[in-house]
Amino acid sequence: MIDITIAPDQQALAQLAAERFIRIANQAIEQRGQFSAAVSGGSTPKALHHQLAASNRQIQIDWQATHIFWGDERGVPPDHPDSNYRMVQETLLDQIKIPADNIHRIQGELPPEQAAAVYQSELFHFFAPNNPRFDLVILGLGTDGHTASLFPHTSALNKTALWVTENQAVQLDRWRITLTAKAINAARQVIFLVSGEGKAEILKTVLEGPHLPQDYPVQRINPANGKIFWLIDEKASQQLRNI
Ligand code: 6PG
Repeated sequence: MIDITIAPDQQALAQLAAERFIRIANQAIEQRGQFSAAVSGGSTPKALHHQLAASNRQIQIDWQATHIFWGDERGVPPDHPDSNYRMVQETLLDQIKIPADNIHRIQGELPPEQAAAVYQSELFHFFAPNNPRFDLVILGLGTDGHTASLFPHTSALNKTALWVTENQAVQLDRWRITLTAKAINAARQVIFLVSGEGKAEILKTVLEGPHLPQDYPVQRINPANGKIFWLIDEKASQQLRNI
C-alpha cells in the first residue's frame, strides 16, 4: 500500500513536508541521538526549505544533532548557479545555526568518479560501523521518471554494489553524482515531493502503470526496511485513479 498525501497547493505541500521532516528529525534524535537527512536538488524542495528556515519551525529542530547530506549533485563547484549545494545553502543553511561539520557536501568540483568515491567514503565514515542508513531521504520526480540523478537507461542504474556513483544522461550537458538505489533503499524513511500539473502524467505512469524500472528509475525506490511517503499537490494528483 502506497502512502500518498495530497495537499491543496504547493504552499500546503511544503508545510506538510516541513511538519513531517520535523517529526522524523525529533524521533531520530530521541531514539539515536542524531538525525541524518539527504536533501534533494531541483526546484520543488525550495518551498520546504523556506518552511524549515522559518523562525517558528527552525526552533523545533536541534540542528546541532542534525546532519545534512545530498541525494545528488551536479558536476559543478559549490558556488555555481546549478549547484544543489548552493540551492540548499541559499534556501536553508544560511538561515539556520547548523555546525559546518554537520553539512556533508558532494564535491561536484572534483572529477566525477573521484567526487563519487570521496562522498561514498564520507557516508561510510559517518555511519560506521554500520552501512549507511539515512533517517530520511527527500526525493523529487523528473518528468522522465528519474529521481536523484538516476536517469532512464543510464550506467548508474546498474551500479548495484555502490552507494554513490557518477552518472551522465544524454540530455544532460554535464556529469552528476548520485546516491544509488541501494543507498536510498537503505533509508528508514523516504519522502517524495511532487508538485504541479506538469508532473501529473509521470506520477500516474510510475504509480499506476507497469513496473519498468529501466524506463522509470523512480520505480527502483522501495526501502527494504523503511517507509515511502508521497507528498503531492492537487495539480500533480489530477490523473491518479487509485487514490
Ligand atoms: C536534481 C534533482 C532531481 C529533481 C527532479 C525534479 O538534482 O535536479 O535531484 O532529481 O528532484 O528533476 O526537479 P523539480 O523539483 O525541479 O521538478
